[in-house]
Amino acid sequence: MSKLMAWIDARFPATKMWEDHLSKYYAPKNFNFFYFFGSLALLVLVNQILTGVWLTMSYEPSADGAFASVEYIMRDVEYGAIIRYLHSTGASAFFVVVYLHMFRGLLYGSYQKPRELVWIFGMLIYLALMAEAFMGYLLPWGQMSYWGAQVIISLFGAIPVIGDGLTEWIRGDYLISGITLNRFFALHVVALPIVILGLVVMHILALHEVGSNNPDGVEIKKLKDENGVPLDGIPFHPYYTVKDIVGVVVFLFVFCTVVFFFPEMGGYFLEKPNFEEANALKTPAHIAPVWYFTPFYAILRAVPDKLLGVIAMGAAIAVLFVLPWLDRSPVKSMRYKGWLSKVWLLVFCISFVILGVLGVLQPTEGRTLLARICTVLYFAYFLLMPFYTRMEKTKPVPERVTG
Ligand code: HEM
Repeated sequence: MSKLMAWIDARFPATKMWEDHLSKYYAPKNFNFFYFFGSLALLVLVNQILTGVWLTMSYEPSADGAFASVEYIMRDVEYGAIIRYLHSTGASAFFVVVYLHMFRGLLYGSYQKPRELVWIFGMLIYLALMAEAFMGYLLPWGQMSYWGAQVIISLFGAIPVIGDGLTEWIRGDYLISGITLNRFFALHVVALPIVILGLVVMHILALHEVGSNNPDGVEIKKLKDENGVPLDGIPFHPYYTVKDIVGVVVFLFVFCTVVFFFPEMGGYFLEKPNFEEANALKTPAHIAPVWYFTPFYAILRAVPDKLLGVIAMGAAIAVLFVLPWLDRSPVKSMRYKGWLSKVWLLVFCISFVILGVLGVLQPTEGRTLLARICTVLYFAYFLLMPFYTRMEKTKPVPERVTG
């Protein structure tokens, strides 16, 4: 075995990679609950790729055959229903995990220097993931697939001058048709997974270059022993590989409960109108995107003008990219920030959740007003950050992690 490894190592850096990224990658010893979600995102990514490949074996990407092929997978393909539910539940699980993963970043200032690129790669993953989910949703060719795509693609029509031409270019037709379905299939199954995988590799390479942050926001590389090992660091393998298994087991328990007992999740994971085949002549009474898009959909609807709404929705995502430069606090972790940062993070999270709920519901006058208030608060969290992070009094950060 050791001879074989020596043979491989002379030709490929297998042991070096194992050591650099696992057995000699020193991670802070105080990772908590929120640090499970990076490895869980990897797990869900693998689940999506595997179940996706198997779905592709029986799926037919055409306007005439798509809906029937999904029914065929559900009824006739061996284990087809489980494979499909693993994939559809996996899509929602991906966003649950990624939202908690991003929240950890906000909580512990993981986007701050020197981890700006880790955050930017993360944001690019988030964008690609949204595109991936949106395109995947058209594939079953149900009513909500069709009309959801219709609403979102038509948003590009609000752009002056090029809008109409752009929507036609995206659809490849004058209306959403089999041509649109075919190109979304190609992007969903081939192009975007490659982009996401590449970005995940860069995300982790960037992280391992600078080292992980932790709940105290202390840079563990500052204090090292005589061998150059950080005093507060422990090898990722075996300590965190084993610890992450605990997260995986708990996650799979919840995930499988949903897959086996509530795959539609009351219409939130698989929407009811999507059990009816797409019909270009019949608009559903109420069109709403899947839950993970609804906060941004609510922002779009909160703005009276269509173009300004589209700009606000885009800005809501774009502002996250510049977060590392908005936070001017001398400390990273919320543990040592002042009360203003704590209150604003809470206000932001509550606004985001309320926007998410409003995005699912039909708009009324009262709900639109609430959506407007939450939209303002959403942006205020970011735009006021350079001020409140400098104004507030922070607590002293300890030299070593506090455990
Ligand atoms: C497919 C999606 C993603 C995967 C597989 C992934 C994977 C990982 C992994 C394995 C880690 C190290 C373990 C950990 O700290 O939890 C990590 C860290 C990190 N990720 Fe992601 N990630 C994803 C998406 C994102 C997104 C969308 C963001 C934010 C926009 C993000 C921001 C970060 C940050 C800031 C860190 C460093 C955290 C720290 O050291 O405190 N990631 N990611």
